[in-house]
Amino acid sequence: MVVSKVIAVASGKGGVGKTTIAVNLGVALALHGKKARVLDADIAMANVSLHVGLDDVPVTLHEVLAGDADVGDAIYRVVRNFEVVPCGVTLSGFQKATPDRLRDVVIDLIEGVDYLIIDSPPGLNRDSILPIAIAEEVLLVANPDIASIIDTAKTKAIADLIGTSVYGAVINKATFSEKSVAVTEIGKTLETEIVAVIPEDPEVRRALMARRPVLLYNRKAPASRAFMSFAKRMIGETPTYYDEDLFREKEESILSRFIKAILRKK
Ligand SMILES: Nc1ncnc2c1ncn2[C@@H]1O[C@H](COP(=O)(O)OP(=O)(O)OP(=O)(O)O)[C@@H](O)[C@H]1O
Ligand SMILES: [Mg+2]
Repeated sequence: MVVSKVIAVASGKGGVGKTTIAVNLGVALALHGKKARVLDADIAMANVSLHVGLDDVPVTLHEVLAGDADVGDAIYRVVRNFEVVPCGVTLSGFQKATPDRLRDVVIDLIEGVDYLIIDSPPGLNRDSILPIAIAEEVLLVANPDIASIIDTAKTKAIADLIGTSVYGAVINKATFSEKSVAVTEIGKTLETEIVAVIPEDPEVRRALMARRPVLLYNRKAPASRAFMSFAKRMIGETPTYYDEDLFREKEESILSRFIKAILRKK
């Protein structure tokens, strides 16, 4: 059997790019010859299907969690080596789904893949903590702004508490502007390795409008190159994408000092 990696993509704040990262990391791993599957564990506000253009599929995680369908029937192939298990979007489906079954579903989904990426809901509630508890490793996502960094620091604290190891953090929607916190400082603040920096890229939003992962929409877009580089790193090769500007050291900003003061451990 292939040794699988079960990775939960998590953040405190919503809208930072978890689903974008889960889907495009999956595609990037597939393009590198690995078999990847993304599970949409955002049971209340699912949107993986939106990112890959899967409409009206008959069986989703909702039906599986309700005990009405086998998990095998909820797996959909997007491209070679890349599959998704979408979650339904209806309220009635959400009401019938029993999250307690998620662990068993994950065990079934590991079979035959190199990576199982779990897209999680934002926040610090039962639904968002469950994927972290089930996964082998957590991939944190933050944007280079103070609210997002603080909230992701809380997600990391939960992972530490539960005992799930943190693979690292992805800084998404990165820009080199005076208003954004420097990448190097975010790593120090979160006390974890920054494993990828994905630039703010208008092609990501255009791809979503076209209902395709950006990597399949425009392979040459800066964000696509960053995702390919991230996947390389995950499979043990040397990353190729490096935008020097994004990593340029800045003087410690007031924002960073503020974050450190808030997160200071007693
Ligand atoms: N690198 C990027 N550059 C530009 N836009 C981006 C980038 N990453 C994500 N976005 C956009 O940000 C929005 C939110 O992204 P996404 O849905 O992936 O976030 P999320 O963390 O999964 O949200 P939620 O917490 O609601 O599940 C989308 O419109 C997406 O296209
Ligand atoms: Mg999402």
